[in-house]
Amino acid sequence: MAKLTGVDVGAHNTKESCWVIVHGKAYDVTEFLPEHPGGSKIILKYAGKDATEEFDPIHPPDTLDKYLDKKFHLGEVDMSTVEVEEKQVDADEAARLERIKHMPALDQCYNLSDFEYVAKQVMRRTGWGYYSSGADDEITMRENRTAFHKIWFRPKILIDVEKIDMTTTMLGSKCSIPFYITATALGKLGHPEGETVLTRAAAQHGIIQMIPTLASCSFDEIVDAADGKQTQWFQLYVNKDRNITKRIVQHAEKRGCKGLFITVDAPQLGRREKDMRSKFADDGSNVQKGGDQDSIDRSQGAARAISSFIDPSLNWKDMPFFQEITKMPIVLKGVQRVDDVIKAVEHGMHGVVLSNHGGRQLDTAPTGIELLGEVMQELRARNLQDKIEVYIDGGVRRASDVVKAVCLGAKGVGIGRPFLYAMSAYGVPGVCRAIQLLKDEFEMNMRLIGANRIQDLTPDLVDTRGLHVHTVPTGNDVLYGGVYDPLVNPAFKAKANL
Ligand code: HEM
Ligand SMILES: Cc1cc2nc3c(=O)[nH]c(=O)nc-3n(C[C@H](O)[C@H](O)[C@H](O)COP(=O)(O)O)c2cc1C
Repeated sequence: MAKLTGVDVGAHNTKESCWVIVHGKAYDVTEFLPEHPGGSKIILKYAGKDATEEFDPIHPPDTLDKYLDKKFHLGEVDMSTVEVEEKQVDADEAARLERIKHMPALDQCYNLSDFEYVAKQVMRRTGWGYYSSGADDEITMRENRTAFHKIWFRPKILIDVEKIDMTTTMLGSKCSIPFYITATALGKLGHPEGETVLTRAAAQHGIIQMIPTLASCSFDEIVDAADGKQTQWFQLYVNKDRNITKRIVQHAEKRGCKGLFITVDAPQLGRREKDMRSKFADDGSNVQKGGDQDSIDRSQGAARAISSFIDPSLNWKDMPFFQEITKMPIVLKGVQRVDDVIKAVEHGMHGVVLSNHGGRQLDTAPTGIELLGEVMQELRARNLQDKIEVYIDGGVRRASDVVKAVCLGAKGVGIGRPFLYAMSAYGVPGVCRAIQLLKDEFEMNMRLIGANRIQDLTPDLVDTRGLHVHTVPTGNDVLYGGVYDPLVNPAFKAKANL
């Protein structure tokens, strides 16, 4: 069949007949317009044109196959016949592009907050809004960070620390240091190559990567980017349709994933106001408009609508289903109470991640590090400490945080945003540098605390007496505080209301 041309597609540029091009193929979205979760207006902006660049970061690769009836897939377009449009650049975007030209050299980044500082200034507004936001007042998100400041070391002296071994195993897989890149959705909002950037950096450093269900790259693209030796885990959002869940879990196992992390803290996605605000376009008050409004509620952030498949009825009784469909070790990600850890042991889970989803779900939920002490105490009291691997995530920005968690009994810790920021600002070299900085810090911390191996990191090396006190002011973390993007109130309009 002859390919369509740019002129063919360009003729369908109205609400009455709307075609768009995505990845070199044309689609008739006329009937789909009113159903589009992102609203019809946004698609109409690309009516008759190539929408790939806008479409790509926020739609998983199989979106069109899954949701747009095959009869509307019109076939390939000869892209040499499609006019490349000069992009309109507004003042904010022009300033951002200028900042990119003046980015600090990578070797000027000495800690993870430096990457956040640079990313905040060079990322697109929507990407920054999605990555940096937390739920409601972002109290849990910030407490994730400050909780680590309430733990102090009790270093040992006069230990022979010439040799340091940071290697460990997590879920039976070897890794170079006890942290992993945790699952974070929509990687292409930060970098055009999305999650594969993290894969390549993880390979270079012997770090485990957890692949998210809601990745921008397809699952297979992320596995194909691996070097064949590195370890990858799979994070699962459980679909209402268990056949789909079964298929993707078994596919992950077949492709070599070594752990299944079922996210249990997100039966509904949290309300993240920075994300919502970054998407708000001030095009006048609704009252002034005619009856031409979308029926779609566009007030929610990027992930919320796209994750509507997540099953809120998921419960403990579903656990045998997962044990039947896979031999991968199963870990519950997002456990927030001591008794749920005990239940996880009773249900034969291999691990738990004590996590509040980076403060993006229930605000004022506890931090993983605070819970860790209580959890390990209870597990030891019941002699269950070897029956389950305990991980934490949230707010880890220094290797000393990792050391503290391991001292308290964590098998390892997950790190989310810092790697997204390093990726968004500097790509693979950025993520590699972020990992290397943590490795350097970790080795130094081990020496200064008097520990040679991971097994030497024991609870007596930390003082946690202040951890449960939420009101005591602790030393101000200037770097973190300096890059923290405060919530804001609505902006007044430049033009007066009529
Ligand atoms: C070729 C067709 C499509 C185009 C050009 C397109 C384009 C877009 C764009 C540009 C946005 C961003 C809106 C914003 O940031 O303000 C968006 C959002 C979205 N799209 Fe699509 N889309 C298409 C098809 C689909 C399909 C088939 C689905 C499947 C259900 C879908 C689901 C979504 C969702 C869930 C959002 C997020 C809504 C939000 O955050 O407010 N899109 N789309
Ligand atoms: C942008 C972003 C997207 C995330 N997406 C997911 C996800 O799809 N699934 C999931 O289980 N957790 C997700 N998380 C939570 C992380 O896995 C992790 O719990 C959290 O980021 C740890 O906190 P940190 O960012 O302070 O390191 C996401 C976090 C962020 C920041």
